[in-house]
Amino acid sequence: MHLPGCATGAHRSHHLASLAHLLARTSTTSISTSPPTPRIRTHSTTRFPPRAIHTPSSASSGRFRPWLSSGCQWRAWSATGRTVLVGGVGEEEDEDEEGVEDESRETKEAPHVAVLLKEVVAQFAGRSVVSFVDCTLGAAGHASAILREHPELETFIGLDVDPVAHGEARPRLQRKASSDVQLHLVLTNFRNIKKAVTDVDAKLADEGVNGILMDLGMSSMQVNVAERGFSFMKDGPADMRMDPSASLTAEEILNKWPEAEVARILRDYGEERRWKQLARKIVEKRLAGGIHSTSELVELIGGSAFGRPGRGKAVHPATRTFQALRIAVNDELRTLEKALTDAFDLLSPKGRLAVISFHSLEDRIVKRFFLKAAGVGQAVEEEDMASDSPVTAPEYRHIPGETRHSRYTRRKHLEKQGDGSYNVRDKNVLEGSTGVVLTKRPIVAEDDEINTNPRSRSAKLRVIEKL
Ligand SMILES: C[S@@+](CC[C@H](N)C(=O)[O-])C[C@H]1O[C@@H](n2cnc3c(N)ncnc32)[C@H](O)[C@@H]1O
Repeated sequence: MHLPGCATGAHRSHHLASLAHLLARTSTTSISTSPPTPRIRTHSTTRFPPRAIHTPSSASSGRFRPWLSSGCQWRAWSATGRTVLVGGVGEEEDEDEEGVEDESRETKEAPHVAVLLKEVVAQFAGRSVVSFVDCTLGAAGHASAILREHPELETFIGLDVDPVAHGEARPRLQRKASSDVQLHLVLTNFRNIKKAVTDVDAKLADEGVNGILMDLGMSSMQVNVAERGFSFMKDGPADMRMDPSASLTAEEILNKWPEAEVARILRDYGEERRWKQLARKIVEKRLAGGIHSTSELVELIGGSAFGRPGRGKAVHPATRTFQALRIAVNDELRTLEKALTDAFDLLSPKGRLAVISFHSLEDRIVKRFFLKAAGVGQAVEEEDMASDSPVTAPEYRHIPGETRHSRYTRRKHLEKQGDGSYNVRDKNVLEGSTGVVLTKRPIVAEDDEINTNPRSRSAKLRVIEKL
């Protein structure tokens, strides 16, 4: 099924309605059969369309159009070819470019630019990948590349909790996939990966999947649509749900959660220095009607949350609060922990799991999980960080004006020793009893990619292979 462009409001609504109807089917549905078009099966394990999509009260009050019923707004956005990046939605490492406006390369044809694309593809290159699960389909940038590079693929399963992603991914995958591959697109949270794979093919779930990818965080289709409420650069309802059928919104947290809980998420998920004061301000605001929109939240934050000194330019004051709320609304960290365990379980022997994370809270979870899953102790990791050939490294010289990423890329094969010399790390691999961590140090984007797609600047790719 191909979704044509959105020429008129009526057409847009119609197309989204058909999309919603399609995704609402819970049984396996063959939606395209004529060869050589690949068979795409659409499954839905979340309730969509929900009988009543919970819409924040600000949206239903008429100030904002509910995004799902506003026709192809997301398409209207993508047609503009311009995006406002919400820099640093949860990015800890590179605070100097927070909140930058970007003349994006995103286009109607590619509304989300896949990060670390060639690096992800390289992790599966030269291997027989007969089955693959993309847990975060988005606009199918990674998925399309995997399909292109692996003509041997027999089963490809794409998960995403956001129906908008499915609307983008499906026609793209239909164009890219060969007729031999079975494509299964499942509207579900990746915490349900085991169920999703079992529902598609119980034997596959049993025997194991050759490759799994998680590209965490938000797509540009989500960040750039004000009505989704993810962006502190755009005025929209305080929503932040990746799954529009979920009931919890940022608005509910802001206006209903106990102060102690609001404070906890600001501290733990936002690493917000002034978490106590900010939680107090949020709760006090309830007496004056509460907070219902992103702009009201940004206004309330005001100057209360600046970045840590000495780490480049100050972050946008709202960055950490938005990160905290988004993580809480989507229960992102617990979801990730569960999904990692289940994804690793699902791998076949020699199967690989690749995870791209965008902030340190996620990256820490991935790193720790990989060490545990591979059966690598902390001591082994530290021991293995050094090798036997100390060098005086020109790569370690200081280059004025160099970006942190460029410096990191240049130095990533070097390890500083206690005596000030540098060892060359010839292996970026940690072998354990149950798996191999292929990225002792995460893979990061090269300068070229960062220049063309600033969103990639905080991306970290980690990969594990099951033994
Ligand atoms: C960064 S985008 C993925 C982009 C994709 N790799 C591409 O090449 O276009 C992340 C996607 O993951 C989805 N997502 C985030 N958390 C999810 C979850 N827990 N379960 C399923 N999908 C999720 C989002 O809806 C979004 O579409």
